Amino acid sequence: MGRPAIDLTDFDLITRRFSEDRPSAVLHCAAMSRSPACQADPPGAWLQNVEVTRHLVGLCRGVPFVFFSTDLVFRGDRGGLDEISGPDPISVYGKTKLEAEGVVRHLDRHLIIRTSLNYGHSSSADRAFNEEMVQAWRSGRTLRLFTDEYRTPIAASETARAVLDLVTIGASGIVNVAGRERLSRWELGGLIAGLHPGLEARIEATSLRDYQGPPRAPDVTLDCGKAEGLLGRSMPRFSDWLRESGPGS
Ligand SMILES: NC(=O)c1ccc[n+]([C@@H]2O[C@H](COP(=O)([O-])OP(=O)(O)OC[C@H]3O[C@@H](n4cnc5c(N)ncnc54)[C@H](OP(=O)(O)O)[C@@H]3O)[C@@H](O)[C@H]2O)c1
Repeated sequence: MGRPAIDLTDFDLITRRFSEDRPSAVLHCAAMSRSPACQADPPGAWLQNVEVTRHLVGLCRGVPFVFFSTDLVFRGDRGGLDEISGPDPISVYGKTKLEAEGVVRHLDRHLIIRTSLNYGHSSSADRAFNEEMVQAWRSGRTLRLFTDEYRTPIAASETARAVLDLVTIGASGIVNVAGRERLSRWELGGLIAGLHPGLEARIEATSLRDYQGPPRAPDVTLDCGKAEGLLGRSMPRFSDWLRESGPGS
């Protein structure tokens, strides 16, 4: 369900729909998910990310609840973060997602998925980081990408597969679901550019040392050992996955 079907801030409507539909489980993916948008509108980010979650949680006593959170709950001064690493977000987005995690943790049957950059294809072709890159190149822009900002990207299809399996085995608490490969924004841009040889993909290397603007977390790479133990398989390395699956996956 997306916004055209239902507005999650319409709390009365959501309450009515819950009593009509009586969902057997809830996967809460909706969010104000773009960090710059949250930074520009903290009250809006609080409403969409915290209050919407609080309202859903209030309706979900006894109902399994899966919440999608982010690697940006961490400060980013060291990578390899696992589920017991202490969160300390520096952005409005990260702060609202951590607050929402706290709300979700009041439920007995909860699963909090912390994920990283997800590669994928949206119906509007402009939501995923790879789609934003392609759009920029198509419009002739040069992307300035950090060589010293690191994430653990994953294909959205792999995130979905892992989450489905985790739900099926009844996993609970916080679980990191991300790729195994630590990649800088610059390396990631190179990989996406390689998928589009027909585009003139212009990338300029830049460093956080030369950056001025809203706070950025340098290294929020996630350790997915817990997910791997629960799933009995390794999370994919993003560059291997891309090579094996191809750009249309
Ligand atoms: N994608 C990533 O790389 C990534 C990384 C880490 C964590 N996450 C988390 O994973 C989840 C899914 O991310 P995503 O990339 O799919 O986000 P997305 O592309 O921004 O999609 C979020 C969806 O939620 C909808 N939505 C937001 N507020 C709503 C509301 N009040 N009522 C109804 N629908 C609402 C949005 O509708 P509109 O389009 O109308 O706003 C949009 O369809 C989010 O919780 C995000 O924080 C994502």
